[in-house]
Amino acid sequence: MERVLSEQVFKPGSFPEYTYVSRISPELKVEYEIRLKQALKIAGCLTSIIGPSKMGKTVLCEKVIDLDKLVEVSGGDFTTNADFWKVLAVKVGLSIEGEYGEYQQYDSNSRKKQLNKTEKFIISKDIVINYFKENGLVLVIDDFHYAPEEVQVYIAQQLKDAIRKEFKAIVITLPHRADDAIRKNADLTGRLSLINIEPWDKGELKQIAIKGFNKLNVNITDDIALKVATESLTSPQLMQYICLSLCTLLGIDDESSQKEIDETRLEDSYRFTTINFEYKDVIKVLKEGPNPRGKPRKIYNINENEALDVYGLIIKALAENPPLVGLSLDELINRIDRLTKASKEKLDKKKVKDSLNQLQSIIKEKEAIYQVFEWKDNMLYILDPLFLFYLRWGVH
Ligand SMILES: Nc1ncnc2c1ncn2[C@@H]1O[C@H](COP(=O)(O)OP(=O)(O)O)[C@@H](O)[C@H]1O
Ligand SMILES: [Mg+2]
Repeated sequence: MERVLSEQVFKPGSFPEYTYVSRISPELKVEYEIRLKQALKIAGCLTSIIGPSKMGKTVLCEKVIDLDKLVEVSGGDFTTNADFWKVLAVKVGLSIEGEYGEYQQYDSNSRKKQLNKTEKFIISKDIVINYFKENGLVLVIDDFHYAPEEVQVYIAQQLKDAIRKEFKAIVITLPHRADDAIRKNADLTGRLSLINIEPWDKGELKQIAIKGFNKLNVNITDDIALKVATESLTSPQLMQYICLSLCTLLGIDDESSQKEIDETRLEDSYRFTTINFEYKDVIKVLKEGPNPRGKPRKIYNINENEALDVYGLIIKALAENPPLVGLSLDELINRIDRLTKASKEKLDKKKVKDSLNQLQSIIKEKEAIYQVFEWKDNMLYILDPLFLFYLRWGVH
């Protein structure tokens, strides 16, 4: 049997050839791959894939579409002045510069000029569409939300025309975007194939470890695979990272290494995995909470060596066992009560609730990396599994 290295088996950053897991989409009880294949067969429809970050959207496209047929662009490739068809032409190596001249997209100040350009523009657009059709190419626009909002609307319009001409395209976006230029576009109603990628359950995550270690001729018990899956918090990427860390710590690639996953090294591998993530600043901001404006906050004793204010407590409670990506207010308060057993003072529900509201408004004003949870309807939802993992195992 050919010998493979752990880094070829566990691939947190790219396509996992040996550890690819096929999942059933819960809405239709059919594999995601089959849904995507079917979607691509329906001429005249645009495929919209929605799912949280790092849940396998790109990997799914790469699995279903032959690499030489896949034309991948990112929403971020389209700046406000970029011409959609020109970007695609350049991407597939078509030289249409000559026919183009300088372009003008949707310049509202110069209607006339715009019309002139539109003629040239249509010619070029048709060349690109035909090129895609003749070569059986599929366009994948990944991270569509990275395109500026007005560009999203413009691209949606372009795609609407193009799909009628049997141009095949997939648009990938994050869920719950109020500005969703594809799914909320009335012009596209009835012309969309919708695929929603759900977070991973433990059984699915386990298969990554079982497949991978099997490939490496290493034994892993079901129980250990389940433990790692629980720690991976719905993220196949985290699962791949932890398995790779385990391989490194156990020296799996050495001929003479043990061929059994040793439970005692699990926690080391979690801690080792956190070096890939950076949430120190995020956690600092959360623990600090809003500016206390000179008024000292009440401190609660946890044990002889540790005392925390309400923000510190909320963050500590989040990190407690079992790791959960959705926590009700009651569960959070139970955890806080357990933590503050040694303290004479108890926190009341209202204070915890108010503090969560405060935290929510603090992170809302900040950059994307800070959007780690959402607090609504008395539930705290972790939006970024890597954050919770870091909170549990990282140094902060
Ligand atoms: N079907 C899968 N089987 C095994 N691992 C996967 C699968 N899908 C994703 N992964 C892991 O998760 C990582 C992130 O997946 P990716 O497709 O890039 O996420 P997204 O595009 O949703 O952000 C991949 O590099 C891979 O390690
Ligand atoms: Mg992606």
